Amino acid sequence: MTNCVVVGSQWGDEGKGKIVDWLSERADIVVRYQGGHNAGHTLVIDGVSYKLSLLPSGVVRPGKMAVIGNGVVVDPHALIAEMGRLAAQGVKVTPENLRIAENATLILSLHRELDGMREDAASNSGTKIGTTRRGIGPAYEDKVGRRAIRVMDLADRDALEAKVERILTHHNALRRGFGAPEVEHKDIMEELTSIAETVLPFMDSVWQLLDKERRKGSRILFEGAQGSLLDIDHGTYPFVTSSNTVAGQAAAGSGMGPGSLGYILGITKAYTTRVGEGPFPTELTDEIGQFLGEKGHEFGTVTGRKRRCGWFDAALVRQSVATNGITGIALTKLDVLDGLEELKICVGYMLDGQKIDYLPASQAAQARVEPIYITLEGWKESTVGARTWAELPAQAIKYVRQVEELIGAPVALLSTSPERDDTILVTDPFED
Ligand code: GDP
Ligand code: IMO
Ligand code: MG
Repeated sequence: MTNCVVVGSQWGDEGKGKIVDWLSERADIVVRYQGGHNAGHTLVIDGVSYKLSLLPSGVVRPGKMAVIGNGVVVDPHALIAEMGRLAAQGVKVTPENLRIAENATLILSLHRELDGMREDAASNSGTKIGTTRRGIGPAYEDKVGRRAIRVMDLADRDALEAKVERILTHHNALRRGFGAPEVEHKDIMEELTSIAETVLPFMDSVWQLLDKERRKGSRILFEGAQGSLLDIDHGTYPFVTSSNTVAGQAAAGSGMGPGSLGYILGITKAYTTRVGEGPFPTELTDEIGQFLGEKGHEFGTVTGRKRRCGWFDAALVRQSVATNGITGIALTKLDVLDGLEELKICVGYMLDGQKIDYLPASQAAQARVEPIYITLEGWKESTVGARTWAELPAQAIKYVRQVEELIGAPVALLSTSPERDDTILVTDPFED
């Protein structure tokens, strides 16, 4: 297929960044279509690590076009800081290789502050989500509430005045509720003026750009952030992010028609992790959970928080295969399982004495489900850096085959270390 959508099939941090970077060699354009700098993607290229949050992972490859679509919420300060960090590593981000949708929503400092105030207040009432405190939720609320400031508004100062007034009326009422000082009109105008000059040269009509490229036959790679279980509709609500993370959003969040999306590649970790609060049926709080966390370096790229770890949950991923229309998966971090005596895979749950093979939608039921496991023999040999099937021990292959069978999707790529090239290609998503 010409195009490919990369989505996380679990709760994020599946290794999307590494796989997007690897695949971007075969693509012309890499497009982010939802989320913001709540995402944290680590790429390792020849031993050098690159950390990306808002910029599409394709930006590190010379000659590739990176695009931030309308579905993304853009914090201009975070954008400028990230471009600065990359420049220090020798990666040039210029209006030649990065385009940002004119109709993308901006995250302002008042969004970040509101996110933090809500999380602080919630920690006393037990309703904390454990957000990244980046202002993602409040910015999407303003977008849906039709009072957001968008990238294009930076170019029209006169119209901006009224828009700032409108957003402040809303936010200052909220801030009074938290006992926080009100934000002054001139402060927001100053904030926006200070970044306008840097951001505006990147502004574009992304739907037109993508339409032109599609007609030319360019290969477009869509890079999802977060994971399907963090989707605002299909995830473990309310412990989710504020955007649709499933593959369908690649169309709405970029302005390209769904018929052109192509191969849907679900990035899937060989075990399960989640950051922040919320249900996690296969969570391990014992020494095996600790082993996975230490061996897998499971610390958040954005907030540095320890990720919760657990066994592979095939019921969840099977659900993601359905909600995304996953064609094939990239199975990552298989190497982290090396050395474990035995491995468990969750194949379904018990809920109030009944067997079910999906995660129920209600929060109360999600908290009550008990995983049903099958047990597989582990392997002693190292799979770190394996680049062919022949280098994998028989038990590791058995594990992979079992995963494929249980989730109902084939493995297209297999990743065996953080390094770009430690990747086994089974099916090329762009050729399939
Ligand atoms: P993303 O948010 O989905 O892009 O994933 P993150 O980058 O937040 O987290 C994945 C982490 O695992 C990163 O530190 C990667 O460098 C690392 N990683 C990716 N693939 C593999 C793999 O196959 N094996 C190991 N050991 N680490 C990997
Ligand atoms: P990548 O792209 C893992 C989680 C937060 C929190 C919830 C809501 O690196 O996979 P938010 O700040 O989005 O309102 O927080 O979502 N979360 C992620 N967890 N990986 C991510 O991104 C995440 N982005 C948000 O921890 O539980
Ligand atoms: Mg991440």
